[in-house]
Amino acid sequence: MQVRSAVIPAAGLGTRFLPATKAVPKELFPIGDQPAIQVVIDEALGAGIDHIVVVSSRDKPAIEEYFAPNDELLRALAAKGKDALADRLRAIGRDWRVSIVYQDDPKGLGHAVGCAREAVGDEPFAVMLPDEMMSSSSLLAQMNGVCASTGGSVVAVLEVPRAQVSSYGVIDPAGEVSDDGVIPVRDLVEKPAADDAPSNYILTGRYVLTADAWSEIEDLTPGSGGELQLTDALRAQAARSPFHAVISDAGRYDTGNPLGFLTASIEMGLADPELGRPLRAFLRDLDVG
Ligand code: G1P
Repeated sequence: MQVRSAVIPAAGLGTRFLPATKAVPKELFPIGDQPAIQVVIDEALGAGIDHIVVVSSRDKPAIEEYFAPNDELLRALAAKGKDALADRLRAIGRDWRVSIVYQDDPKGLGHAVGCAREAVGDEPFAVMLPDEMMSSSSLLAQMNGVCASTGGSVVAVLEVPRAQVSSYGVIDPAGEVSDDGVIPVRDLVEKPAADDAPSNYILTGRYVLTADAWSEIEDLTPGSGGELQLTDALRAQAARSPFHAVISDAGRYDTGNPLGFLTASIEMGLADPELGRPLRAFLRDLDVG
């Protein structure tokens, strides 16, 4: 069954980007002329998803404004003859649907995803953490395929030096890596100490989950950091059903902190058909030593 919905948790305070996030949600920071969340949505659409569920906070009304039609703005653009731009604005949410749900209490990622249950319904769904961006939709598309063929949940992983694993969820592989980068998983653990980690494959912000994840999320009790952890819901799934990880070989940008965001903007700018050439020329001329 094709995964139709993607859940994007976006209720966080954006503490690492204060003071900028005092007024502007980090999900709306621009990558070129696109808000960051649209880059993640485009990745979802490219993998055949057509329903985006944004888990937001009532303190971040600007996120809703981005998705809401704005007739006055469209009229102003039409009056100036800026039809192409008006068309781009009309396309936001035209061929896909967006649902906004709220997480009123910041109780953790598992809780945030659980807030999307009604909007998604009883079917497999993707979870996409917007602090990570991928250079293409191929990883998510492959994960959808693995979910369909195995009937079990799938997570994206990245191999990192062991010293870094304690900031992430980590998988416990149950077998070898296949030629196309798929690993069977027997368990997962959230933010283990480096010495206790079952591998150095970390969860990297993309999940395709079967519908039985909902009841595991509902039953969560506080885990690492006292939060309701999505990883803990997945370990219950892995204990009883097929569960796989796909090693990400797409370009990945960690946009969760100012330096990561800046470097992602530059890399994506270089790949942009319009911005790439002048940006490259600017960087070449920079005498950075
Ligand atoms: C979350 C997940 C963690 C995952 C990480 C990826 O952690 O809980 O398993 O590895 O995202 O970025 P957070 O960054 O919210 O602490």
